[in-house]
Amino acid sequence: MTAATRQEQLAAIFKSATVIPVLTIERVEDAVPLARALVAGGVRVLEVTLRTPVAVEAAKAMIAEVPEAIVGIGTILNGDDLAKARALGAKFGISPGATPELLKAAAASDLPFAPGIATASELMQALAAGFDLVKFFPAEQSGGIKALRALAGPFPNILICPTGGIGEANAASWLAEPNVVAVGGSWLCPAADIRSGNWAGITAMCARAMKSLKPA
Ligand code: 3PG
Repeated sequence: MTAATRQEQLAAIFKSATVIPVLTIERVEDAVPLARALVAGGVRVLEVTLRTPVAVEAAKAMIAEVPEAIVGIGTILNGDDLAKARALGAKFGISPGATPELLKAAAASDLPFAPGIATASELMQALAAGFDLVKFFPAEQSGGIKALRALAGPFPNILICPTGGIGEANAASWLAEPNVVAVGGSWLCPAADIRSGNWAGITAMCARAMKSLKPA
């Protein structure tokens, strides 16, 4: 696969998503009902973060049992994590930041990958490695929409998925920005709802968000 094809795939996945829930799964048995609840609410592109010991097994279970879900791996911190994501069958990878080592590994991999950036220099490193779709993290804490607009001045063609501090109240404002292809965040799957198995509540919240955010 060429780098251009990989980037096109990544952009298509993010544009189809509108909203990407950032999932932290503590118990592997929650993975499949959670993915089903999200998909039932119209949220199909999921980011399973490598933040818990069961994350890899959870992502594998979702991929095997919820084929409607497009499962990516988040919190990729190095080349080993990237290889893990590719091996388990993830459709994309995403990271909170990027080191030179990670950018090099991602450039050599055919896994669609969005590195994290928060500054112009980090964005320049991502672009130099061939990544024009980036996660802006932590988005609200790093200056919010004003900071995004400032970054888009010298880099008008970048595609952005902001995460960090995004929720029901501000998701629409972010999505109205021309460079924003999707927004990410944990608000659609609160830890308490996962813990208590409130799958119907998660579906209802997703359906409400998609109805108000996804262009017809
Ligand atoms: C992420 O990794 O993208 C963030 O943890 C999501 O931030 P949020 O919890 O503020 O949505």
